[in-house]
Amino acid sequence: MAKVYLENLTKIFEGRVLAVDRLTLEIPDKGLVSLLGPSGCGKTTTMRMIAGLEVPTRGKIYFDDQEVTDLPPEERNVAMVFQFPVIYPGMTVFENIAFPLVARKVPKKEVKKRVEEVANVFGIADVLSKKAHILDAGTRQKVVLARTFVRRPHVYLLDEPLTSVDPSTRVELRTVLKKLQSHLGQTMVYVTHDQSEALTLADRIAVMNEGKLLQYGSPEEVYNNPKNTFVGYFIGNPGMNFIGCSVEEEKGSCVLNAEDFRVFVPDLPNSFLRDFVGKKIILGIRPENLEIHAKAVSGAISFLVILVEPVGNRLVVHLKKGEKVLKAKIPRQEMSLQQEVWVRFPLEFLKFFDGETLETIEV
Ligand SMILES: Nc1ncnc2c1ncn2[C@@H]1O[C@H](COP(=O)(O)OP(=O)(O)OP(=O)(O)O)[C@@H](O)[C@H]1O
Ligand SMILES: [Mg+2]
Repeated sequence: MAKVYLENLTKIFEGRVLAVDRLTLEIPDKGLVSLLGPSGCGKTTTMRMIAGLEVPTRGKIYFDDQEVTDLPPEERNVAMVFQFPVIYPGMTVFENIAFPLVARKVPKKEVKKRVEEVANVFGIADVLSKKAHILDAGTRQKVVLARTFVRRPHVYLLDEPLTSVDPSTRVELRTVLKKLQSHLGQTMVYVTHDQSEALTLADRIAVMNEGKLLQYGSPEEVYNNPKNTFVGYFIGNPGMNFIGCSVEEEKGSCVLNAEDFRVFVPDLPNSFLRDFVGKKIILGIRPENLEIHAKAVSGAISFLVILVEPVGNRLVVHLKKGEKVLKAKIPRQEMSLQQEVWVRFPLEFLKFFDGETLETIEV
């Protein structure tokens, strides 16, 4: 068991590719932290540095209070699972899972007990005697995960382990992993570029972009209070709507002028927005927080429906007014193209970002 602390971790490849940029992050002991970000943002490089497979250009790595920056991988007691399963094709499933234990000269009886235990957890007890190469991709990844968990290392590093697995197995394995992690009480770092996976799995999410840590917080924090527009957009399905506005004053109220429409924020004198009168800001609102009405209601703005996408039991409705397009996520209902609807922006859900830095404006 270990807390992992990354201090100003930086990796520059070939003297020019800045893959990870001054990353400081504390992964609590027994925590399940997800590294989330788009392709190329430095997730795998970070994991490889934690595992000892890549030497940082600058910065330090600690496990608990011990600095491990220069320790070779085999002395770190971490296990890493990669995107694509790596199995020993000539061996049976049992031998594949037992491999790390046999290599450590664990007694045979104990090996058998632990392999059977973990095979049950991953639902592969019935294929233990089969040769690994005949298995499908999903089962192979189960074998790899079982082999990782049989070993009980200090830290588990899982790098998009469910990518090559079909969707139903993915949901099943996600649950197994979460249960195992909390049952074993071990530290796990889980890389994904799928925000819904991070939201369902992790205790804390580290959102990265271009090698930098943008925000580190609980799923609720990153969802409810994104630190900047990137996090607001990246988290959520679909991501947050953003509307560039200038802040104006009208009869003591604040008006956010988006050119195609205006949003009123009453009580300007009490509002932090008064400091922004005459300036540009970005208004953010999540698609699920827009209020859609079939008839005109007070304070609502009329929009035209230009696209309707069913997503599970909900609809994502694309709405247009002038040049502006917003997405609203609403319960399934009759909604036709070119229909006029009225949109309200509930004050309690409005987020404000600086028009230049794109960082959240602290209220
Ligand atoms: N060995 C390497 N040599 C040179 N550049 C590299 C090397 N490994 C990674 N990079 C670059 O470093 C950056 C970060 O890559 P990394 O693989 O860590 O991203 P990632 O977040 O894991 O992306 P993905 O979601 O696609 O797996 C990218 O620009 C990548 O091209
Ligand atoms: Mg990667």
